[in-house]
Parts: sequence; structure tokens; C-alpha cells
Amino acid sequence: MLNKKTVEDLELNGKKVLVRVDFNVPMTKTEPYKVTDNKRIVSSLKTINYLLEKGATVVLMSHLGRPKGEANKKYSLEPVCKELEKLLNREVKFLDSDLVIDDIIKEKIKNLENNSIALLQNTRFRKEEEKNDENFAKDLAEGFDYYVNDAFGTSHRAHASNVGVSKYLDSAIGFLIEKEIGIMGKALEDPERPFLAILGGAKVSDKISVIESLLEKVDSIIIGGAMAFTFLKSKGYEVGKSLVEEDKIGVAKDILKKAEEKKC
Ligand code: 3PG
Repeated sequence: MLNKKTVEDLELNGKKVLVRVDFNVPMTKTEPYKVTDNKRIVSSLKTINYLLEKGATVVLMSHLGRPKGEANKKYSLEPVCKELEKLLNREVKFLDSDLVIDDIIKEKIKNLENNSIALLQNTRFRKEEEKNDENFAKDLAEGFDYYVNDAFGTSHRAHASNVGVSKYLDSAIGFLIEKEIGIMGKALEDPERPFLAILGGAKVSDKISVIESLLEKVDSIIIGGAMAFTFLKSKGYEVGKSLVEEDKIGVAKDILKKAEEKKC
């Protein structure tokens, strides 16, 4: 049973809501930068539309790519803002600052038209984001009534814009997170068997704890994506020029051993 506060538990009319979404979407590699797959933006629309329909003023924030704590046009959320405007068919104010949040942006947030929507610049333009820095989180939270987290794809990170801000504002989850937790909760608590998990992605390092926890619950795991090559190499196979995390070969070996012990 999901026992989390959701957007439906909030009294939203006339309130200012800070929303963490995961707009880390595929983009063209060269200028003009454009969104090449808007699925993640589309997935956030249900929550955004609900907040607007209930009379809230909405300020969205997200990361995009890995700009390593510095402002970089390649990772600007401006093209994402344009894509969102198209999808919503209404204006989305782009609150552009290399600092993400500063006095000018705070003033703009204060003066936003009631029931309007805006988007902050890439939260990873600030080093403090990935350090889950308290002051940065506090700065982001200033002037808002609520914080809503709907960034499901970012849930495995503890950063200032998804975890830090929740300390300073009355918080709730959005519909996307509610849906995903619902699906995962049922699959993990009361699964039909045989229970097979399929994992992809490039990095074993990001998924060690997920794989270890799944080993306790599932009958089989299929490892796909680039991560598979680290496992194959750990078993002594040649993988050519494929992406391998050399320093995680030992970890992959341990995981395979544990899986064997657990008959997974
Ligand atoms: C993702 O695409 O996996 C999330 O947006 C998190 O991005 P990250 O791996 O750069 O932290």
C-alpha cells in the first residue's frame, strides 16, 4: 500500500509550488540544440496540468546531462522549455540564470503571474546540486508553499533539488512517481512467479545496490545494455571495444557469485 502524501492531498489554489521533474531528455549533439525524444516531458504533464487546473503557480526544475557544476549552453534547458510550451500549448517562462537561483530569479518568482508556469535553468549548473548542499536547497525552496517531487528517473540520486528541498517545504509526490511506486511495489511485494528482472544502462556502479536487492527477490535477472560487457569481461570473455567499467569487474564477479549462491 502506498502511504505517501501526493499532490491530491495539497490545498493548491493560489499557492506557489516548486516541482522537481526529470527533463533529462535526449538532445541533438550540435546547435541548434533540440529535444529528440520528449517522452519524459510528456510523462510529467499529468502532474503539471493538475497543479495548474487546481489554481497553483508552478515553477519546474530539472537537471539535463552532466555539465559538472558549470553553466554550459549545450546543457541549457531552454530547448526543453520550448518543447514543453508546445505540449502545453501555453507560455512557460524560462527563468534563465547561470546560477540557477539568485536574487533576480527570486524576484521573478515572486512576481510570477498567478496560475502561470515557469522553468528554472539546469540545476546541475551549480556544483552544490550534486552535493545536496543545504544552502542551495534552502535558496531553491525560498518563497514557495509546497514542493512536489515527480522526477521518477532521478529517484536514485540524493541531490539538492530532489532530496534537499524537501527539508524546507511541505512536500508531496506527483502522479508519475505515484504510478511507478505502485507498479514496483506490487511487483516486489507480491510478484507472480517466475519473476524475471531485466536491467539495462551503462554503469554497474549505479546499480550495484539495486542488483543486490533484486537477487533476494527475483528468480532470474537479465543484464542488458553496456553494463553486460562488464559482466562478460568478469567471466573472461573478449568484449572488443565495448564499454566496460574496468574498476567494477571485481564487483560484477561478486554479484555473479552471489546470484549462483541464491540460485538466481
Ligand atoms: C537518468 O537519466 O538516469 C536520470 O535523469 C539521472 O541522470 P544521471 O544518471 O545523470 O544522474
